[in-house]
Amino acid sequence: MRRPFIAANWKMNKTIPETREFLSSFLPEVEDIQDVAICIAPPFTSLVEAAAHLKNTRVLLAAQNVHFEEKGAYTGEIAPEMLADVGCEYCIVGHSERRQFFLETDDVVNRKIKALQKRGLGAIFCIGESLGERERGETFSVLRRQLDGGLDGVGPENLVVAYEPVWAIGTGRTATPEQAQEAHAFIRETMRQRYGEKTDRLCIIYGGSVTPENVDSLMACPDVDGALVGGASLTAASFLRIVKFRKE
Ligand code: PGA
Repeated sequence: MRRPFIAANWKMNKTIPETREFLSSFLPEVEDIQDVAICIAPPFTSLVEAAAHLKNTRVLLAAQNVHFEEKGAYTGEIAPEMLADVGCEYCIVGHSERRQFFLETDDVVNRKIKALQKRGLGAIFCIGESLGERERGETFSVLRRQLDGGLDGVGPENLVVAYEPVWAIGTGRTATPEQAQEAHAFIRETMRQRYGEKTDRLCIIYGGSVTPENVDSLMACPDVDGALVGGASLTAASFLRIVKFRKE
């Protein structure tokens, strides 16, 4: 049995007071939720504030980025140890915005996942094809390349895979449940080939314009185990409705 995993990716949004305001209204509403893992990824500057609010709750804290080295002369970077230090349990890795704007390669993503696992932190590992790749019929080969590159030498521990078709992120254009299911089933089979039965509990979550309106139909897909939510995670009411999805 896989427990649904719903994560908020706030990206470059929310100051410390805004973080406080969100969590003050959101956390009391999710106190009783045990059957869904809820995770919030604020910007670095809000991690300490968020960690203080999440203490003694079941809500998990994630960072949005990490460097693969343990320490040293890497101006502007944050090490896995530092994330653990502020109370992070997960970190998003391989997001298409990092691949696109910050030129992260599969190799860099791989090194980051290894560095997180070494420090006992979970990775929310994002993969997904661009519109051109989908139109050229390359979706599965792109997913396989990203999985093979990102997971080379990596174990399945503390791993969450996020399928995020690039054309659906922040565009309001969600994958249909059929498109999501097809990609998730492919990812699950690829993971099964790689890790065997160890993947029985592995969550494969969907990201890309998830909203309160479409979450139920996405979560009804047998291989969609959760969601990575950007825009619709920025207001407490909207994210709350998403974590309280109903299977259609
Ligand atoms: P979106 O972002 O929900 O705003 O499309 C999702 C993501 O980038 O993780």
